[in-house]
Amino acid sequence: MIAIGSDHGGFGLKEEIKKYLSEQGYPIKDFGVESTASVDYPDVAHPVCMSVVNGECEKGILICGTGIGISMAANKVHGIRAALCGDCFSARMAKEHNNANVIALGGRVIGSDLAKEIVNAWLKAEFQGGRHQNRVNKIHILEEKRKGEGKDE
Ligand code: RB5
Repeated sequence: MIAIGSDHGGFGLKEEIKKYLSEQGYPIKDFGVESTASVDYPDVAHPVCMSVVNGECEKGILICGTGIGISMAANKVHGIRAALCGDCFSARMAKEHNNANVIALGGRVIGSDLAKEIVNAWLKAEFQGGRHQNRVNKIHILEEKRKGEGKDE
């Protein structure tokens, strides 16, 4: 299952990506929004990311106007590695090297055809492990360290 969510700035692109992936047979869980009414992107990032960390969804797609705010919010959720991508090479690398479990897109930055190719590149790529696993592990060590310092509370 792939989780998807956006704020108002990403709503149009979310609908297009959702349709595109559904047509390809991917099971999608849509966490909203359902209109262009203004919302706060962390309020959407949180449930999408929680569905990924609790295993309900395998991966998540988040879209806001630039992709910046929603990726920042996503990366505050323990266990999330969110990559803001505006090109296909970065999207592939985000999976192969960083094992990104969330991809973020800017609905006001990229067109829907490019966005679909970016999502495709990320979904089709596979994590390469090895030295990249060591680096991803070190990201989690940083997360644990912060938690130990009580900075998350
Ligand atoms: C909303 O106007 C906009 O700030 C938001 O979609 C996003 O671009 C923030 O990073």
